[in-house]
Amino acid sequence: MKNETQTILIIDDDDQLRNSFFRLLTEENYQVKAAASGEQGLEMIKKQIPDLVILDIRLPGMNGMETFEAIHDIEPKLPVIIMTAYGTTQTAIEATKTGAFDYILKPFDIPDMLTIIKKALESGRFMRSHVKMDPAPDESFHEAVIGRSTPMQEVYKAIGRVSPTDATVLIRGESGTGKELIARAVYQHSSRNQKPFLPINCVAIPETLLESELFGYEKGAFTGAAHRRIGKIEQAHGGTIFLDEIGDMPLSLQSKILRLIQEKSIERLGGRETIPTDVRIIAATNRNLENAISEGMFREDLYYRLKVVTIWLPPLRERRGDIPLLEEYFLSRYSAENNLVNPGITQEAVNTLCAYPWPGNVRELANIIQKVLIFNRGAPIVQEEISQALNEKGARKNENIEENQDILSFIQKELSRTDKENLFDSCMDHFASLLIREALNLSGGNRTQAAKILGLSRPTLHSRIEKYGIKLETAVKSE
Ligand SMILES: Nc1ncnc2c1ncn2[C@@H]1O[C@H](COP(=O)(O)OP(=O)(O)OP(=O)(O)O)[C@@H](O)[C@H]1O
Ligand SMILES: [Mg+2]
Repeated sequence: MKNETQTILIIDDDDQLRNSFFRLLTEENYQVKAAASGEQGLEMIKKQIPDLVILDIRLPGMNGMETFEAIHDIEPKLPVIIMTAYGTTQTAIEATKTGAFDYILKPFDIPDMLTIIKKALESGRFMRSHVKMDPAPDESFHEAVIGRSTPMQEVYKAIGRVSPTDATVLIRGESGTGKELIARAVYQHSSRNQKPFLPINCVAIPETLLESELFGYEKGAFTGAAHRRIGKIEQAHGGTIFLDEIGDMPLSLQSKILRLIQEKSIERLGGRETIPTDVRIIAATNRNLENAISEGMFREDLYYRLKVVTIWLPPLRERRGDIPLLEEYFLSRYSAENNLVNPGITQEAVNTLCAYPWPGNVRELANIIQKVLIFNRGAPIVQEEISQALNEKGARKNENIEENQDILSFIQKELSRTDKENLFDSCMDHFASLLIREALNLSGGNRTQAAKILGLSRPTLHSRIEKYGIKLETAVKSE
């Protein structure tokens, strides 16, 4: 899906560095602005707030820390990444304590830096893009929670009741029912909505990293801990932390979260200091926590602490009446985002959507609409287009089970090799190249469409095609 172009402001007095950032980030489809001093940067921010600032800590005139504080006063929810070199790391760490998103150490590792930039932009979007509940159809282009069914009305009521309090909220529901969306709505309606909202996905991060990401660490806490690092919980002080997929959180961390809820304090890894921490916790999971407790995978005491305020999101099949509304919303939203004219949809096609069981819930519906729209040629969407998209999905699912076997045996073979350096990178390249080939097949060799399908920028896709030496003739199967 194409996103609106995001603007990044670089503040650095080094011309060369500004230029290389400019090239690199423009390639990645960001809009880049640059300022050579803190003063100039602030002027630009006052005129128009960018989506992210990358700020050098060492600046002539107004220094980096002063600039950061001034930016923070103008817009506390604007993510700022601090660039630092040896010697100024301490200051950068202080900045993360007072709300900078993160800091990066020069010289940069480009892929790492791009990851941090993506995360920071995502976090800014989370905080600033307003989630509207049940909007009128003509204003539904922004992110919105759609649905008027009774169970959804219960959800809105619950959001209204819990948002103004500081109570811990647990959001439950099957995958794709909108838990993340509701978490953001709760935050935006809370009294903490001017303070940070930091999302942490407990399942996407390996256990040891998750602990340091959440709680931070002291210098020397473990091999490789060269500097103190402030964890996300401490960074969210005064604000809200969103613990997504909490049902998958390792037991050892569950007890630390329990302590945070009970004692309102944390300790950094390898630290002795107890740090008072005022954060509101919003948690979400699609797991059956009751089963997880009986299997010894989830702490019962944490469960009781979390479940006091629970918002249950209904599966889509239990609120079928909302399907036409959702379909209409995604159709106009994705058409607008892809600069397409909304083709409309026939009643039979809507009926087919309404009859389908939607195991993947709203996410699956959104994906189907997006897919149909990419291949649609402008005429109203008909039943066959919907059925075809749904069938392809079903067929793919079954293939996946067998595919996974092949992938696993490939991985096992690779892991058993002792002669290979950079095993991770070479495996990832292998998969990425297959993925790109398949996407090109699907789009009939059209790179713009393939990039859209993959969620990559065109230049990124292009450089990957070059890197893997993918020949379009061989990538596209002949009929
Ligand atoms: N009621 C809704 N109205 C509009 N869009 C929705 C609604 N519910 C979910 N979505 C959209 O569906 C997609 C999936 O939602 P979300 O990521 O919040 O699901 P989730 O419950 O967190 O799923 P998972 O358990 O897989 O993480 C998102 O793009 C979200 O914006
Ligand atoms: Mg989610």
